[in-house]
Amino acid sequence: MDEYKLPDLPYAYNALEPYIDEATMKLHHQKHHAGYVKGLNSALAKLKEAREKGDYGAIRALSLALAFHGSGHYFHSLFWKSMCPKEQSEEPTSGKLHEQMKKDFGSVENFKNQFAAASKAVEGSGWGVLAWEPLGKRLIVLQAENHQKQTLQGSVPILVLDVWEHAYYLKYQNRRAEFVDQFWNIVNWKEVEKRLEQASALNL
Ligand SMILES: [Fe+2]
Repeated sequence: MDEYKLPDLPYAYNALEPYIDEATMKLHHQKHHAGYVKGLNSALAKLKEAREKGDYGAIRALSLALAFHGSGHYFHSLFWKSMCPKEQSEEPTSGKLHEQMKKDFGSVENFKNQFAAASKAVEGSGWGVLAWEPLGKRLIVLQAENHQKQTLQGSVPILVLDVWEHAYYLKYQNRRAEFVDQFWNIVNWKEVEKRLEQASALNL
């Protein structure tokens, strides 16, 4: 079975300073994200073993582990790509992403306000999520609790913000709202637009 691997960051650990500090990025990538990759591989190995033995006594725990660690790996991989150094972060004023946001939220500013409010208000550990919803062909904002809860099935995340404490506590302590507000300095809008192009080509 092919194992999942921890992807490299697309920039240096200090590239998002001062908004996200180097120590947080290192721990987050090398310890937390790596842990989800390990947990995902482990869940798949245990499921394989269960099939081979015909023993599904642990199927509930294994199914949860698969969803939790798998979603954790996916979200972190997307999170790193959702950001870039401030000099490269350019909020769209025209183009496909800009037009779609105007259509679905009224404006880019409205989107940012909803996304920030959703991210700040996640109960416990979780994520703010911008996703493409392929049935209605629209952008939506979701909150994900842990990594896998409150999903709108079929939707494709294209921009995510980690609001687990491990994402900000070293620098921002309990000030999650401040961390969320600073996130806008380092959003990789080009990547979001690219993902919108890819996701909106889906015909589900
Ligand atoms: Fe995280």
